[in-house]
Amino acid sequence: MAVPVDLGARSYTVYVRSLSAVPSLMKEAGLEPGRCLLVTDENVAAHYRTPLVKGLSDAGWTVRSLVLPPGEETKSASCLHTIYDEALDWGVDRQTPVLALGGGVIGDLAGFAAATLLRGLPLVQLPTSLLAQVDASVGGKTAINHSTGKNLIGAFYQPQFVCADPTTLDTLPMREYTSGMAEVVKHALIKDPPLFARLEDNLVSVMTHKDRAVASSVLEQAVRVKAKVVNADEREKGRRAILNFGHTFAHALERVAGYGAFTHGEAVALGMRAGLYLSHQRHPDSLNRDRLDHVIDAIPVQDDPSAVPFPELYEAMSADKKNQGDTIRFVLLRQLGEAYLTGEVPKQQARHAWNFACSS
Ligand code: NAD
Ligand code: GLY
Repeated sequence: MAVPVDLGARSYTVYVRSLSAVPSLMKEAGLEPGRCLLVTDENVAAHYRTPLVKGLSDAGWTVRSLVLPPGEETKSASCLHTIYDEALDWGVDRQTPVLALGGGVIGDLAGFAAATLLRGLPLVQLPTSLLAQVDASVGGKTAINHSTGKNLIGAFYQPQFVCADPTTLDTLPMREYTSGMAEVVKHALIKDPPLFARLEDNLVSVMTHKDRAVASSVLEQAVRVKAKVVNADEREKGRRAILNFGHTFAHALERVAGYGAFTHGEAVALGMRAGLYLSHQRHPDSLNRDRLDHVIDAIPVQDDPSAVPFPELYEAMSADKKNQGDTIRFVLLRQLGEAYLTGEVPKQQARHAWNFACSS
């Protein structure tokens, strides 16, 4: 399966294919064997580094791998500098591809390193978590976190191609798998009612990764939604912001609770509950809240978010990238499949929405 991302000179393909195809996909993308820098984390390296490096070496590549600690804390300036040091000490040039093998943390971090090293090295995204396969690896957003907030230092930088191997999900911890489902559900809610209906009809098997055929086709459909939104608005001048449904609350929660306390997907699930509450207040006749809540509530959240005080959460929301001046902006739903951005959410309503999300 292959999903095109159409961005003129920056167009590329998202392949849903085995990682063993990577050397030939690199050739197809016009990357000539030489040096390449593989960035991954310890968990992912344990399963996928050796066969990938062997395949690349057999195809004539000289691979340097950099294995970083797993987790959100790795999306930091210090890990970015570790990549810079390794790459520059080794003597990369503008033809040296950076291969990001891992979840969204590695994709965002290695992607930003590729965007900035020598003003841009070719980037290949090899996402191994569900969240990275359906969302983070597609669309060119790369970033590290700052103490002020999530993803505040970054660049739009498109890869040469993406290869998402669905069999890597077999080794993904279940908590990470269900977290990734949050972004799949988000794509369905903002733009794809038929995908939402499929999720609804197969909720248990999809959430437990029991039926591989359904899981693969849901994955592909979710990638298509992402590609469609990015094609229409690569640099988030407008419509792309709808991909942030649930994220105003989510990014603030991740920051206030401490990066890693909630997975990104768990934070998004909670943010979507709050977002749906606000949406339903405005559009009670066009939104069947019970139906939508039922699917969002199927995403488990391990810890109790109510320990996070709302004033701190609200203050953190003020550092969100979508904001304009002092206005905090939220993505809401007008109906299933139709999302919009608004700055008209009074603080008290946001508080009620958050209380609702915490009580579900
Ligand atoms: P992650 O990268 O931390 O991966 C989750 C965990 O799963 C890690 O411990 C990782 O080592 C492990 N893992 C990954 N693949 C595995 C596999 N196949 N087998 C075993 N273990 C595996 O987190 P994530 O949920 O993938 O990504 C979250 C990040 O993505 C956040 O920083 C978020 O901001 C970012 N994000 C970016 C975009 C974007 O458009 N760039 C979109 C959504 C999210
Ligand atoms: N995940 C948000 C975006 O890619 O725009």
